[in-house]
Amino acid sequence: MKIIMLGAPGAGKGTQAKKIADKWQIPHISTGDIFRANIKNGTELGNKAKEYMDKGLLVPDELVVDLVVDRVKQEDCVNGYVLDGFPRTIPQAEALDAALNAIGEKVDYAINVEVPDENIINRMSGRRACVACGATYHIVHIPTKVEGVCDRCNAQLILRDDDKPETVKKRLDVYHEQTQPLIDYYTEKGVLVEVDGTVEMEEVFGAIVKILGE
Ligand code: AP5
Ligand code: MG
Repeated sequence: MKIIMLGAPGAGKGTQAKKIADKWQIPHISTGDIFRANIKNGTELGNKAKEYMDKGLLVPDELVVDLVVDRVKQEDCVNGYVLDGFPRTIPQAEALDAALNAIGEKVDYAINVEVPDENIINRMSGRRACVACGATYHIVHIPTKVEGVCDRCNAQLILRDDDKPETVKKRLDVYHEQTQPLIDYYTEKGVLVEVDGTVEMEEVFGAIVKILGE
């Protein structure tokens, strides 16, 4: 099953993608996580990506397309995968389609997690991410057992650099301008499905399971 997660920054793409990956035992491929790992390791890709990410802008297509196209060709992707944060522009979607077409495959579902802008800023300022394992929490909705410490691996939690309110606003503008057109793109392909992302995360997941089938 090849799944794409669509939705505004903070809609819950990562939260739901992890649950899908666990249930269906397929890889969760998050371009944001890949860039953050590269930033942490001080790679050339990370240094280039950071310039754009810190401003709330998209990283240029040429830095992301080959990376994902190569990743989905790896062996662990034979039974499918869930892409989180990619594609984010029409050219990225076209590049993915071309790569899949070439091997006689296609995207099965593009899941749009719908959350209005008003809810987003509050969610992002409360998000905490683990520097070591990438787990995400929310100080109110998904608190950790010990404040500031990851439940899974005991590492320290941080507020992402791009989760400051002024950067979140910019990310929302960029989303509406460059990523939202993908909703029409995948509607035309007949693979778009929508879920309400404003309800409890287990309820959101329940709606996704209903669509994908047990
Ligand atoms: P990326 O890491 O993909 O960030 P994003 O799309 O802005 O999305 P987020 O990860 O912020 O939100 P999410 O939807 O995953 O929500 P989450 O589940 O964490 O990308 C970062 C940057 O990298 C981009 O800005 C860009 O610069 C660059 N980039 C990445 N991919 C790129 C690409 N393809 N092309 C170009 N540039 C690219 O949830 C948010 C919070 O809400 C959490 O605290 C969570 O616990 C909480 N929450 C989740 N669900 C619920 C719920 N139902 N109720 C209450 N709280 C909830
Ligand atoms: Mg995410």
